[in-house]
Amino acid sequence: MENYCWVVLAIITCVVLLKLFHDDKQNLPPGPKPWPIIGNLHLVGSVPHKSLHKLAITYGDLMLLKFGTRNVLIVSSPEMTREFLKTNDANWASRPQLAAGKYTAYNYHDMTWAPYGPFWKQARRIYLNEIFNSKRLDSFEYIRVEEMQNLISRLFHLSMLGNPILLRQHLTRYTLTSYVKEMKELHRNLDKFNNFVLDDHKAKRELGDKNFVARDMVDVLLQQVEDPNLHLKLNTDSVKGLMQDLLAGGTDTSATTIEWAFHELIKQPKMIKKAQKELDRVIGDGRWVQEKDFTQLTYIESIIKETLRLHPLSTMLPPRTSLEDCHIAGYDIPKGTILMVNAWSIGRNSRYWESSEEFIPERFEGKDIDVTGQHFMLLPFGSGRRKCPGYSLGIRIIRATLANLLHGFNWQLPHGINPQDISMDEIYGLTTHPKLPLHFIMVPRLPHHLYK
Ligand code: HEM
Repeated sequence: MENYCWVVLAIITCVVLLKLFHDDKQNLPPGPKPWPIIGNLHLVGSVPHKSLHKLAITYGDLMLLKFGTRNVLIVSSPEMTREFLKTNDANWASRPQLAAGKYTAYNYHDMTWAPYGPFWKQARRIYLNEIFNSKRLDSFEYIRVEEMQNLISRLFHLSMLGNPILLRQHLTRYTLTSYVKEMKELHRNLDKFNNFVLDDHKAKRELGDKNFVARDMVDVLLQQVEDPNLHLKLNTDSVKGLMQDLLAGGTDTSATTIEWAFHELIKQPKMIKKAQKELDRVIGDGRWVQEKDFTQLTYIESIIKETLRLHPLSTMLPPRTSLEDCHIAGYDIPKGTILMVNAWSIGRNSRYWESSEEFIPERFEGKDIDVTGQHFMLLPFGSGRRKCPGYSLGIRIIRATLANLLHGFNWQLPHGINPQDISMDEIYGLTTHPKLPLHFIMVPRLPHHLYK
């Protein structure tokens, strides 16, 4: 018995020594000392990208924090982001399995929260090939035009009353498809809503003939369910998960970017005038802006880029996790570490952006800096394998909406409100909104018959 105890003791000692030896050898990135149980969570305030931006000034552009017991890497510079999302992208292509994905996304059966693997690959292929290819997007332009005309005509009628208009209220009602409105008004419960949309589409398909033509993106998804060549059969939950991605991605995102643009523009009316001059020259006063006009609307394009630089919707890119142990920038990074990129901080990096806190669209004029994830100083749509698949739709909606709102109306603050009173505070979330929505006095500037 005594011998047995000695053997057990020797084994335990070896294990402890081995672990200590191993840990000593690990060269982990720097970071603040964690507290027991909560780790470093007490250092992260209600606007996390700002707290993490400040911490990075002390600990550097790659720092290791503990959120509870989990290791979380925070990356805050373009160079370091390139290391993770380009050089080592394959290893960081998964998402951590967090409660959000489990409970709101059909147990990770959507694209945003799905771990890297066959389901995600197939979903991504469907999105890129079937839903967001430019032919399909062109064929659904009529839906966007219809929604746009409704928005403009609603705003026109309100503007004629002369009262201040709460822009957010109208932008969030203006949606990718009228279904979202129904979700907000009729169905608080997401799953109920998804079932409703799905059943409605199925019923319409069954009523249609054999030559059924997809009218919107949900129809395209339903066609995929029947595709015998699909590697992995889609079940109802995965269709609902993917639908949810489309609805969430297609509504709040564009509306919030437009809201931020007006928060900035109204403080500098000369920019609104400059944009309107461009519109008068390219479009004239006889029609609305179409998606194809955008190659010529370069100043408005610069306004959009500058808005996305200072106000990226995902101030912290959604978390990734590593599939294997790796070695980056001289540090050892264990498998399963969570990675978060501070896109907000990167957009303000003074080595890349002069007067980085100021809104200056002109900084993009004549520069070849785009927003699709290849220039790491500007990452509103992320980068690498998990970058936003809805980019081409999102950017079309933002362009057409912003351009038409500037084309159709003159903009002023209500009497008694000064530009310097405008709060640029944020509410942090999966998308980060202005804390206080603004009212505007809007005055139509085109012949009135165009608004009807
Ligand atoms: C202004 C418009 C939009 C912005 C700024 C935006 C931004 C983003 C960002 C930052 C990511 C994370 C990328 C990464 O992890 O590197 C993302 C992912 C995603 N976006 Fe968007 N997005 C927009 C529009 C859309 C639209 C219109 C859709 C679909 C209708 C969409 C669907 C998705 C999906 C499904 C993902 C997850 C991709 C994955 O994990 O593989 N987004 N988006």
